[in-house]
Amino acid sequence: MSSTPRGTVYIETYGCQMNVSDSELMYGRLAEYGYTPVDRPDGADVILVNTCAIRDHAEQRVIGRLGELKRFMGRDTVLGVTGCMAQRLGPSLLTRARHVQLVVGPDGYRALPSLIEGARAGERVARVDFDLEEHYEDFSARRFEGVRAWIPVQRGCDYKCTYCIVPMTRGPERSRRLADVVREAREIAEHGTSEVTLLGQTVNSYHDGEHDFADLLRAVGAVPGIRRLRFTSPHPNDFSDRVIAAMAEVPSVCEHVHLPMQSGSTRTLRRMLRRYSREGYMDCVARLRAAMPSLAITTDIIVGFPGESEAEFAETLSAVQEVGFDDAFTFIFSARDGTPATRLPASMTISAEESRDRLQRLIEVVRDGARARNLALLGSRHEVLFERPSRRGTLLQGRTRQHRTVLVPGGTSLIGQYRVVELTGTTGSTFTGAFVGAGRPLPLAG
Ligand code: 5AD
Ligand code: SF4
Repeated sequence: MSSTPRGTVYIETYGCQMNVSDSELMYGRLAEYGYTPVDRPDGADVILVNTCAIRDHAEQRVIGRLGELKRFMGRDTVLGVTGCMAQRLGPSLLTRARHVQLVVGPDGYRALPSLIEGARAGERVARVDFDLEEHYEDFSARRFEGVRAWIPVQRGCDYKCTYCIVPMTRGPERSRRLADVVREAREIAEHGTSEVTLLGQTVNSYHDGEHDFADLLRAVGAVPGIRRLRFTSPHPNDFSDRVIAAMAEVPSVCEHVHLPMQSGSTRTLRRMLRRYSREGYMDCVARLRAAMPSLAITTDIIVGFPGESEAEFAETLSAVQEVGFDDAFTFIFSARDGTPATRLPASMTISAEESRDRLQRLIEVVRDGARARNLALLGSRHEVLFERPSRRGTLLQGRTRQHRTVLVPGGTSLIGQYRVVELTGTTGSTFTGAFVGAGRPLPLAG
């Protein structure tokens, strides 16, 4: 390894938290090889676009962006595409976008320094092999945020939900060794970051051959200085009693779970191959709530999956009300080439218009439920970790353990610190608050 200066590198990240974490690893690796990370594409010697393939819209954005990036490129600039779209499209991206020299899938980042050197010498390469041993253990991530840190604990996915491209872009599931995860958590805590989020496609199916996710929660929870422990995203079927007990018993595990439901209809869930029924999902929610009464639950929901009847969609709406989600990410089904859902008969396709209408109705039900829950929280007190100045002026933004966003007037010196805050107002989704014992309550926002 050499640290000869090799110019600057800019990485633009799309998609999920796993991609953010991968970009941190790539920055770290390239910095070790002498590249200086920069936060703008203009003038960068190397530009990497770390992409997402989960929905067509995400890919279209990247295609558009690759066109735009042309104007930032000099004669010797190397442009590379990494991540899930790189894996999915492989060498065809090189023909589709002539100014792209490098296409590297999620398991190929170890080779980036040499691939970039090759590209600088005029090569155009696609590297899209899976490597089931690859966890980038010896990379030191260059983390974007000081207050929170992400730790990947698992790569790939062994579920084969029929709509999902992830098993094809990130390959089979594999877990890092518990000791490696704990070592990373310890390093993060020693740098003064007290909140960590464990990442995996179905994170609670974590198993390193010896330890399961319950062991992992207990081990990371025991690291001195880790005050908040989160994870995303779990699969309902992997919430064993052991895992739920660990969540309830480890004090740093936060009272929030992001639990993708996808649909509230057992029939739709069966076509999605989610491997649980509506009742199974409800049972999981009940077990989690029994162990952690103040648990906040958020979710992902897809509308317009092939064959979704109006009655099935209505079951999704009623499931949203029955669970009482604190928030939901809602999506229109997007057909992804090569996934089993694309083989369902064309007659089952839900029109774009119908899907948009369902999405709108779903968003309203989610919003109404969240607003009612949030209004009921006014006056309650919460520990808030402050993260950054809010986009709107003089307020500071932080989060409660339940992952609720709170805005409080305050200076940036509070960033990274914990304070008790009383919730005084809500827009329906976010809160304003006041430090307990300090000053008068704020007026209701929005
Ligand atoms: N179309 C729409 N939404 C999808 N998701 C995954 N694949 C698709 C698809 N083909 C959603 C799921 C998942 C979230 C990350 O993205 O809800 O939980
Ligand atoms: Fe995709 Fe299903 Fe795996 Fe999640 S669990 S990544 S939705 S295949």
